[in-house]
Amino acid sequence: MFPSEVTDFFKTQKTPFYYYDLDVLNATLSEIKKHGISKGFRVHFALKANNQPKILKMIKKAGMGADCVSGGEIQRAIDTGFTPDEIAFAGVGKSDEEMELGLQHDIFCFNCESPQELEVLNELAGKSEKKARIALRLNPNVEANTHKYITTGLSENKFGINASDLDKVLEKLPELENLELIGIHFHIGSQIEKFTPFEELCRKANALNDHIEDKGFKLSVINVGGGFGINYAHPNDNSVPDFERFFGLFEKGIKLKDHQQLHFELGRSVVGQCGSLITKVLFTKYGQTKNFAIVDAGMTELIRPALYQAAHRIDVLTSSKARKEYDVVGPICESSDTFRKDISIPEVERGDLIAIRSAGAYGEVMRSAYNLREANPTVYSDEVK
Ligand code: LLP
Repeated sequence: MFPSEVTDFFKTQKTPFYYYDLDVLNATLSEIKKHGISKGFRVHFALKANNQPKILKMIKKAGMGADCVSGGEIQRAIDTGFTPDEIAFAGVGKSDEEMELGLQHDIFCFNCESPQELEVLNELAGKSEKKARIALRLNPNVEANTHKYITTGLSENKFGINASDLDKVLEKLPELENLELIGIHFHIGSQIEKFTPFEELCRKANALNDHIEDKGFKLSVINVGGGFGINYAHPNDNSVPDFERFFGLFEKGIKLKDHQQLHFELGRSVVGQCGSLITKVLFTKYGQTKNFAIVDAGMTELIRPALYQAAHRIDVLTSSKARKEYDVVGPICESSDTFRKDISIPEVERGDLIAIRSAGAYGEVMRSAYNLREANPTVYSDEVK
């Protein structure tokens, strides 16, 4: 992953910075094409995971659509070459301005999450003399067995229309004449590592599909969302997730009717493994009970460890000394600004470079300017000289 010419190039760059290995991204996209797109599935990329224009252009070129959750993301998708008919707009709280932007571009579909949202979208569509295509996001009450902050498909979560409201919504829909129901949408959570929650999702989705079609609606889109997890512990051996198994599960599990197409919205599994956060050791501190490697990246560059207790693999790029145990920590004045605790890595000293792996998804996009920290330029593998 980091041959010496790459590490040498890193030494010339201002740290901390995000590095993307485009070979890994290309290998991932090939598998998505082979096991998903070429089977007739429509695979949208969730821009919330990564919105770097260079990456989006490669994803678009591979034949994926765009799954956006804000006006900013719709605009970014359009600016990077996605056509409106490739853009879906999801989110539990869309503002009027954001819905208007989607209407103005006549995007492919709005994934709607509440009865009130349907009424407001209907009104706005009427005002702009447009008909909005919609999919109902249904909450299937499936336990995704992932971190509680990224579980989304349980009744207690804020997402989607609950089963108990569905019939009322369906009854009301014909009155909302500026909306056209084209599908149903689910998303049960993120970083789902087992396949059983997806199997349960298939069963629930099939039942809901039948239920709605029996009422006389024609659904052309069955969107099962994203959520496919990546291997944070062993990114080198698992740089491309097992898309054959993932898409195969849904191919078998979802009972599509003749007029229906299966849609996905993948984020993490597409870009997670191609990105690393490269950081430099500022100081080492050897205490009575702990050793600290204090690096120049912090929770401002990668918040996942602080927010979700995520354990990203850490590779030391410039030392092969005997191993020592460290807490690898950032410079921010909060104890949550810790990347890993008690990990054994080659002994480091001031100036050593470290790669925090599997940071391509929900890394750079969640960066903040806390402490007025500035962002350094991103580096791509094809720029390494
Ligand atoms: N579709 C919907 C409606 C979503 O809410 C999400 C992610 C996705 C698709 C893409 O899911 P993925 O394939 O990436 O799992 N910041 C958190 C993850 C938040 C995910 C939110 N929803 C993290 O760093 O783990």
